[in-house]
Amino acid sequence: MTVTSSGQDTGTGYGRPASSHDARLTEVGPETPMGEALRRYWHPVASSSALTSDLPHRTRILGENLVVFRDGSGRPGVVFERCAHRGSSLFYGRVEEDGIRCCYHGWKFDVQGHCLEQACEPGRGLRRDVARQPWYPVEERYGLVFVYMGPPDRKPPLPRYECLENLADGESLFSEVPVPGQNVTGLVGDFNWLQAFENAMDPVHAMWLHYTHSGPQFEGTGTIGFPPSYFDPYTVSDKIRYNITTDHGLMYRQRWQRDQPDGTTADMDWCFEVQLPNIIALPDFVEVVPDRRHDCLIWIVPSDDTSYRAFMVVRAQSPDRLTRIVLGIKQNGKLFFELTEEEKQRFPGDFEAQSSQGPITQHSEETLATSDKSVVALRRMLRKMVDDVEAGRDPINVEHGQAQLRQVKSGVFTVSPGLTARSTAVAPSVADARVG
Ligand code: FES
Ligand SMILES: [Fe+2]
Repeated sequence: MTVTSSGQDTGTGYGRPASSHDARLTEVGPETPMGEALRRYWHPVASSSALTSDLPHRTRILGENLVVFRDGSGRPGVVFERCAHRGSSLFYGRVEEDGIRCCYHGWKFDVQGHCLEQACEPGRGLRRDVARQPWYPVEERYGLVFVYMGPPDRKPPLPRYECLENLADGESLFSEVPVPGQNVTGLVGDFNWLQAFENAMDPVHAMWLHYTHSGPQFEGTGTIGFPPSYFDPYTVSDKIRYNITTDHGLMYRQRWQRDQPDGTTADMDWCFEVQLPNIIALPDFVEVVPDRRHDCLIWIVPSDDTSYRAFMVVRAQSPDRLTRIVLGIKQNGKLFFELTEEEKQRFPGDFEAQSSQGPITQHSEETLATSDKSVVALRRMLRKMVDDVEAGRDPINVEHGQAQLRQVKSGVFTVSPGLTARSTAVAPSVADARVG
């Protein structure tokens, strides 16, 4: 409460200055600072298995309207949605063996925007080489189609991730989310991308939102390894070690104790890493399997300033693992699309919390606290990424030459197996300071 010397409480809403968001962190269009920084990275644009040569798909990435398609010979392509002739949408175009043909006058473009034919022009377009449909480079890996929208001379190799390679017998990669209409070009969220991304570095919301406020929301909680004490919101701050810098991003660790089958108790760490600029290495929040190799990456790709598309890949024996990630949080025992407005009020989840921050949260109105340490640290790293690009330097996680295999560390790890007495104190070690 703000009180003047005359005893007047001035903390009312009256006369507050207009609120604002941090444009440097959130706005992603061409020529914005963050937009330019994000254009130095590859971003998923479609699920490979869902992208067929049947129809083109409309999408929006970093504020640009695009069409993604796979030509009849199997090559994926990303081009501007507006046809270079007179602007009809290639969403209504026809996919052919060697490109996409506009519906209006039959101009056909290949996956690099070369005009192959101008159907109604003399000689099918004697000067068709001057027409170029703006396009972007794409590459496929891990079951996703990635696009690079930055300066051609700064294009890095497509990154590689150890957790998505070296598949064991029976394992596959799954990238097609089980949501009708969003299985090709990603799960759409209608608020700023950073609200979704920084949620991954907000550990305490799991204790309050997902367990205390709305009742247990993680499917199977209590039967698969996390004890109720793990979710105690009033002691969680003692158990978390924030702001562990990794080779590619940021991590927090949460210490907890697990009763072992032999009657002893083990100290465990829940480790959660994000990698810049927009990758979440989401640990398995439904099934606790200690010391398991990580198996899932999620990309939060900005569509524009007020919406994003989430893409994910899991390495698993069956697509059920991916389904659990997308549909693994229940609200009052129901899935998000089954809820009434009143049920959303009584049992809010991630969507209600994050979307209600607004299309772009108002940073000027925030009151950051101890549990926001990793959110603050992540924003600091993103600001440095933007600064580096502005200064002409390669930002974090941009490499040139051969792509190195990147490691991630997320999941539940045994710190001290077989303790006979319960230990509640977090004892960070020197090794905690940097985790590769
Ligand atoms: S507008 Fe596309 S061919 Fe004319
Ligand atoms: Fe959450």
